[in-house]
Amino acid sequence: MLQGKSIVLGVSGGIAVYKVVELLRLLTKAGADVHVIMSKSAQEFVTPLTFQALSGNPVHTDLFSLYQEQEIDHISLADRADLFVLAPATANLVGKIAQGLADDLLTTSIMATKAPVLIVPAMNSNMYENPVYQRNQESLTDYGYHILEPISGSLACGWVGKGKLPDPVMIFDAAISVLTPKDLVGCHLLVTAGPTQEEIDPVRYISNYSSGKMGFAIAAAAQQRGAQVTLIAGPTNLTVPVGVRCFPIFSAEEMRSAVFDQVESVDVVIKAAAVADYRPVNRASQKMKKTADQSTLHLEKNHDILAELGQQKEGRVLVGFAAETERLMAHAAEKLQNKNLDLIVANDITCEGAGFDVDTNIVRLLHADGRVEELELMSKFEVAQQLLDRVKVLWKAKQQ
Ligand code: CTP
Repeated sequence: MLQGKSIVLGVSGGIAVYKVVELLRLLTKAGADVHVIMSKSAQEFVTPLTFQALSGNPVHTDLFSLYQEQEIDHISLADRADLFVLAPATANLVGKIAQGLADDLLTTSIMATKAPVLIVPAMNSNMYENPVYQRNQESLTDYGYHILEPISGSLACGWVGKGKLPDPVMIFDAAISVLTPKDLVGCHLLVTAGPTQEEIDPVRYISNYSSGKMGFAIAAAAQQRGAQVTLIAGPTNLTVPVGVRCFPIFSAEEMRSAVFDQVESVDVVIKAAAVADYRPVNRASQKMKKTADQSTLHLEKNHDILAELGQQKEGRVLVGFAAETERLMAHAAEKLQNKNLDLIVANDITCEGAGFDVDTNIVRLLHADGRVEELELMSKFEVAQQLLDRVKVLWKAKQQ
């Protein structure tokens, strides 16, 4: 998505400037050509040299520098950009843009660009809540600027409240979202992700190696394409994508309740979670002690959530996953049919690049009409996009 895109990263002053160094790294790693403009105060926090070294491009700081204008004039920088990202955006910068002031290189370039602009404010929480600031931010939204709201937490000034710059990966996702065509608007998608944990006693559980990466990638990609996304996720280390409503759960039964609480209003269900098939018959209330040389754990079957969804489909698109170690096609085809699915994503986890905790996958897509598509090795995010292309067709067909 960002490969070859020209991005202007506007940095204004604030303690959060250090986080933007990581954002720059993410953008360049994704193939974007990033040109950094720093305000005067931003240079008090991090030197231009840091941004220059990481972007591979000269950093622009001065509107009236003959040398910089000769190298690349600010109007052409604004003109060539596919996207402007302003992070952190101070109250001062937001106020200036809202009032149409252009008195330095950064504000002049923003005024001159026709590219979409993503503004990521960060400031003291009282400043953020100030009605004057809020009115400025609202008018920027009205003008069509994209705002990624700050998050709550403890601020550098010692206060606790809303005003923190979101994590770089959240800003990165929001940047992709701004550039992504919105072809899933009107679609409510429910995604499950990650493992479930079935408690044995207060210190132990049964689980599996699922990292949640595939399901989270689907949720992020769908949100960026304009879908309303609900994510029901077992325990993972991943950050919930911006704009996605997440319900964290632990056990398969908790996942089942959460799914059936939400399912009435959704158009599509994608069950990427690795649900534990069994749970202990009894959960010990105290830590179990080692006594006998051998011990037996009695397990009972969890409900098959996807199979239950298949029995009460009601016009929804239903997508399952089959992570197998042998007879991939046979097992996947069986699940496709038994669970009454529209599509199943099959992968052989013994193949290199297709396991649980890696960033890539090699999948086959088995359709209910018998078609089988073999996709090559690609990132989980790209698999998510490919899958959503098929889901879009199925969803549109069900609407007719
Ligand atoms: N699934 C589910 N509820 C379960 C078990 C699985 O909703 N209790 C869903 C998974 O989220 C996945 C699909 O069913 O989308 C296939 O899961 P998988 O574990 O591969 O298959 P099972 O049906 O559990 O069969 P087996 O473990 O015997 O391979």
